Amino acid sequence: MTTVCEVASHTPAAHPSPGNRGQRAGRDTVIFERFSAAGCQSYLVGCAESCAAALIDPEISLIDRYLALAARDGLRIRYLVDTHTHADHLSATRELSRQLDVPVAMHRASPAPFVTLKLDDGEMLAVGKLRLQVVYTPGHTRDSFCLCVADRVFTGDTLLIGATGRTDLPGGDPNALFDSLFERLSRLDPALKVHPAHDYQGRGHSTLGQEFAENPRLQVRERSAFVEMMRNLNLKMPTHITEALRTNMSGGKTVAQMLAEAAASVPFMSLAELKLRIASEPQELLLLDVRERDDFERGHIPGARLLPRGQLELRVNQELPDPTCRIVAYCELGRISTLATATLRSMGFQRAVALDGGMQAWREASYPVTSGADP
Ligand SMILES: [Fe+2]
Repeated sequence: MTTVCEVASHTPAAHPSPGNRGQRAGRDTVIFERFSAAGCQSYLVGCAESCAAALIDPEISLIDRYLALAARDGLRIRYLVDTHTHADHLSATRELSRQLDVPVAMHRASPAPFVTLKLDDGEMLAVGKLRLQVVYTPGHTRDSFCLCVADRVFTGDTLLIGATGRTDLPGGDPNALFDSLFERLSRLDPALKVHPAHDYQGRGHSTLGQEFAENPRLQVRERSAFVEMMRNLNLKMPTHITEALRTNMSGGKTVAQMLAEAAASVPFMSLAELKLRIASEPQELLLLDVRERDDFERGHIPGARLLPRGQLELRVNQELPDPTCRIVAYCELGRISTLATATLRSMGFQRAVALDGGMQAWREASYPVTSGADP
């Protein structure tokens, strides 16, 4: 993953200290950071004088980076903004809202129940001295909008550099996109810098004037031809569309979040440490294989007991009567066992640990394996 940061052209020095930024850069200075993860763009835009900021289209894998750069720039994030319901990017607004206790702002057409600040066309967010103006631009989705801030416009997936957002995903409408591009964006100042939510070719930004002059899709200015073009793009479905729509529309957790939360709540034991302990003090450990029976019988760590993850809660009272025992849980790849260990800890097994790695890594290390049924 590449992360790119760009400092606002307004700022005279690369990263002025919070204390003197306003003086050195003037009252209307915009502090600006751009982040890129697998082609998804997100932006931190802040007011140098007040140190208030808004985070636009944040992505779940960059949460620590956003917070680190906001702290480095002396900014306090006041708003979390999604320009639309993303189908190919896992939004961090819900999680950051929980961590920072600040509102999630989206268009009023957004279906997400965790949106605390619903916006409509022509409204503004006040971020210190900055004003972030909403321009409703449906088409890519029903809830798409662009956000004008000082000398730039955050276009979400309505307008990309050299392209436009697609209209074949849920809520997409090529007729609405035509109106948004040619009736709304075309009337804004052509000097505005364009910052889209996607930039697969790393072009950074352009201007509205450049896009209307050169963007191939914006040269198709007759409605029916534009609609026909958009309906025949034949684009591949985004990789994570099911998970993105599920989590972005409901506020539910991603699989990666579930695993990260479990991993943060349990200790781990290395493969080598387990091998040593099995050899030196096998009676001190209860080695728990949480895979399915077939996998266990094909090959498991000597001395392990079988208790599949799917049966853990319901069988724990018969199988694990001593809550003080030291349990080491393992699975094939180390993920299911992390979830199982977190469950065991939450049930009172305070010495449960997860194997760092799984049966696959154990076999690759040529450590001992035995086969057959649980004795
Ligand atoms: Fe999108």
